[in-house]
Amino acid sequence: MYRTHTCGELRLANLSEEVTLAGWVQRVRNLGGMTFIDLRDRYGITQLVVDDNCSPEIKECAASLGREYVIQATGKVLERSSKNNKIPTGEIEIALSALRVLNSAETPPFTIEDNTDGGDDLRMRYRYLDLRRNPLKNALALRHRMAQVTRNFLDGENFMEIETPYMINSTPEGARDFLVPSRLNPGKFYALPQSPQTFKQLLMVAGYDRYFQIVRCFRDEDLRADRQPEFTQIDCEMSFVEQEDVLNIFERFAKTLFREVLGVEIDYDFPRMSWHEAMEKYGSDKPDIRFGMEFNNITADVKGKDFVVFDSAEYVGAIVAEGCASYTRKQIDSLTDFVKRPQVGAKGLVWIRVEEGGIKSSIDKFYTPEELSAIASKCGAKAGDLILILAGERKHTLSALNVLRLEMGDRLGLRDPKKFAPMWVVDFPLLEWDEETQRFYAMHHPFTSPKPEDVEWMESDPGRVRANAYDFVCNGVEVGGGSVRIFDSALQQKMFRLLGFTPEQAEAQFGFLMNAFKFGAPPHAGIAFGFDRFCSLFGGSESIRDYIAFPKNNQGRDVMVDSPTAIDPAQLVDLNIKLVEN
Ligand code: AMO
Repeated sequence: MYRTHTCGELRLANLSEEVTLAGWVQRVRNLGGMTFIDLRDRYGITQLVVDDNCSPEIKECAASLGREYVIQATGKVLERSSKNNKIPTGEIEIALSALRVLNSAETPPFTIEDNTDGGDDLRMRYRYLDLRRNPLKNALALRHRMAQVTRNFLDGENFMEIETPYMINSTPEGARDFLVPSRLNPGKFYALPQSPQTFKQLLMVAGYDRYFQIVRCFRDEDLRADRQPEFTQIDCEMSFVEQEDVLNIFERFAKTLFREVLGVEIDYDFPRMSWHEAMEKYGSDKPDIRFGMEFNNITADVKGKDFVVFDSAEYVGAIVAEGCASYTRKQIDSLTDFVKRPQVGAKGLVWIRVEEGGIKSSIDKFYTPEELSAIASKCGAKAGDLILILAGERKHTLSALNVLRLEMGDRLGLRDPKKFAPMWVVDFPLLEWDEETQRFYAMHHPFTSPKPEDVEWMESDPGRVRANAYDFVCNGVEVGGGSVRIFDSALQQKMFRLLGFTPEQAEAQFGFLMNAFKFGAPPHAGIAFGFDRFCSLFGGSESIRDYIAFPKNNQGRDVMVDSPTAIDPAQLVDLNIKLVEN
């Protein structure tokens, strides 16, 4: 037997017991006559003591130990004379009677400590060493716990976990596919699923009225902190339900996760906001409602004063930063530089300081104090507040003002990661117009149903049609999204037509689904949560990487296994593939 206990287990209650532990050497401290070894495993750290009572072999072995050596230690549990109340095992230590090196270790390239000295790249290359550190270990433990609570909850609600294939045809979720060449079918490719969307709909046709899967999805898109090329969804689908049923059950699901994983009780109904309202008030379809600072549309109030920036603007929007009237010139300049960065793209920033003694602004030349006061009162600003205004093309300005609002939220400490503000965004538009390609795209995906009352606009004014689609948003993160599906093949054909598919193209890509719908498709709806995002939200981090054991870097590379790589020419021949030079 390698061990009788783990390194996180022993307490004063175990005094005088003879125990055997195994693990990694965290640190060796040699204090002349005594040597202390911190032994670490997944469960914690236990102090081992080598002193004069130990045999020469043990002393010799202890002297040979280096960081991260794997050892086995046997001894008696003693009460420590100087206790360490920072760790649960801090009241005891083990007086050794045997010590054995199970494996030596090279000096690790960075310290295996909570605050390591290793840079990102190095830690990614030695991910298995990074995973020994507490922050990552805790992140994976959180992920595991969330998966267990998810399975328990959904099982309790009669959802069946069913696996769907990874080698399929393209699913249209809006990103590029990862492709897998087929050796047995020369010139043909599988696509890795962007989500199991079509398969879960087929399962509804098959009668499995409550399905779920914690499933890997693959999307070849540009990476960000909250995006990975392979990521995991909690994917769900239900039959004989309406939007309200889905929102209810998954609101309970989210509350269960908050309660059972974090001990956070959310005892109110999640607020619901239409997409339109979210865009108007926050310039985002995933608003962070942990704080207010809502947008004020002052376009009509500021025109006609010869200030060309406002006169020529399609939209002028203002936010009120409470208590910030005292911002210095330097602070305001830094905000101006912030919004002018190419990523934000605003042309400039107009400010109004509302002070007890009067009002000051960067547009004093064009507006009288009375006019500025009127703007301030329209925005609900009071003495001590700073109003920040952006102007320009509507869509662009809403988006820039959203970035500015979030930045102010950060600067004012209003975005506490330990505070949660979950919500539903509902009533998304069905379609989105793309200027570049001059065509409509499905905002969610082509299987999302229009609101029945809006179907009449599908041909005459498609942009106006709203969808039975919903997102679960928390703290400004889109954690999940779903919709009520189209289950009538005629309506589905109409949708494909709107999206610019010819009947032949629709048949070639989705014939299997259209066919299935001819054999008794029930009304159905579903949702998928980004599991990695859910974990990072719960863990209070912006990056989902920390919650994935072996993630890709932001070039989509796994630097540990060095993937992707060139492949052997013989393999290419096998697959009937010729590489072309660009
Ligand atoms: P959607 O495309 O909105 O919907 O995806 C659902 C959720 O998956 C997460 N997500 C990602 N997480 C990490 N990296 C990515 N690259 C990534 N892309 C998406 C997000 C998102 O909310 N089939 C539909 C769901 C449905 O209609 O039932 C779908 O996939 O958190």
